Amino acid sequence: MTNSLVEKPEHLKFFEEHPKGKEQEDTRTDPLDGHARIEQLWTTPFMEVDITLPDAIRYDLINVLHKKEQSLQEIRDENPQFYSIVDSKGFYATTHYNLFANPQEYPEKDTILEFEKISTKLIRYYIRKGWGIQQADELELEGRCFGNIQQPGARTYPHYHQDVNGVLVHYLSMGEGNLTDNVMKDSEKSPRHPTHNVLFQDPRPAISYPYWQKIHAVTPRVGLTLIHPNYLWHETNPWLGQGERSCIVVNFRIVSHGYNELIKPFRF
Ligand SMILES: [Fe+2]
Repeated sequence: MTNSLVEKPEHLKFFEEHPKGKEQEDTRTDPLDGHARIEQLWTTPFMEVDITLPDAIRYDLINVLHKKEQSLQEIRDENPQFYSIVDSKGFYATTHYNLFANPQEYPEKDTILEFEKISTKLIRYYIRKGWGIQQADELELEGRCFGNIQQPGARTYPHYHQDVNGVLVHYLSMGEGNLTDNVMKDSEKSPRHPTHNVLFQDPRPAISYPYWQKIHAVTPRVGLTLIHPNYLWHETNPWLGQGERSCIVVNFRIVSHGYNELIKPFRF
């Protein structure tokens, strides 16, 4: 219960008076313009776009992710080598599948193909604009599609995506009821680090200033789609809403125009 006699802490008042937001673009000119050149070398392009999928497609995808979530038996039958590692290491990989591999095996095959088409279009856009590859549309790409369903209280530990070039994440559902009421209601208690966020951190020393802004925090919403390089470490704060939070993920790799085309399995 709030005690009105207790003064609100100064840092909470500060955050109320300074709402977060993007700075305005700096349009000032300087005599050094046109002489000095500063390039942002080796930075991390990070793409955010809202994609509204028709509800029928969204529900189909959530459905198929649910079925895959409970398929440890399937892993045991179809990939005994991987299962033996799962078993011996004592972990349960709920994401060991690729929805794009055999879409015809699912009743939701048309939806899966449609999502592959949409995500590939976004990935090629990211490769062209984020990585500066003008030939993005001609590149041969490959990848794996899987999902992540979080129950209340769940969080995802820090991780990066090994052995691929980039990652697309699309949020399919964000619990039940009003997100603001359910999830954000106590976020002012932690104004610098609010709940419900997904956190991204480049593993390299930050080139940005102020030096404490090393984390890029994103507040997920249905339809939000993110694309980033594989090496970007990320994690979630615990999901504290009601119902499930689910997202679908595409790990992608560029195959053509590089040494990848030459790689073959070892014989021994
Ligand atoms: Fe991830």
